[in-house]
Amino acid sequence: MTVRKITEYPDDVLAKVGKPVTEFDDDLKALCDDMFETMYDDHGVGLAAPQIGLPLRLFVMDCEGIKLVAANPEIIETSGEQTGQEGCLSLEKVPAVVVRAEKATLRAQDLNGEWFEKEAEGYAARCFLHETDHCDGKLFIDHLPKMRREMIIKKFKKEKKVYGK
Ligand code: NI
Repeated sequence: MTVRKITEYPDDVLAKVGKPVTEFDDDLKALCDDMFETMYDDHGVGLAAPQIGLPLRLFVMDCEGIKLVAANPEIIETSGEQTGQEGCLSLEKVPAVVVRAEKATLRAQDLNGEWFEKEAEGYAARCFLHETDHCDGKLFIDHLPKMRREMIIKKFKKEKKVYGK
């Protein structure tokens, strides 16, 4: 297992719609091991393939008891609303308040290519939505009004300068 380098905003790969995962083989398993390792190393609860530079529809997560690999993820149902803080490893975890659905149902393929559905609420639902967005080339800041988005980007650039990552 290897900790991969995290791709940071504004890298192009973060804005690309990912390609579907088509091979469910040992390479995919090894890649997901690396993704978990990278996520834990940076104390994240979710990590999508574009965040390590791969334009693929794939994410891993371990959030509030839900640990899974999601290939070709889609959100098939949402309900309710939650307002809470959210951050992203590609933006140095600078937090912002984002409005999301309270409940979300994820449909995706596991490491063997088997389709599954999983419902979550609260923070885990937020994670489903955030990571699926990454696979569609979207970042959490895209959900913010322009002024707030620019503020977060400014903060991120400042943190980067201070900590020199
Ligand atoms: Ni993220």
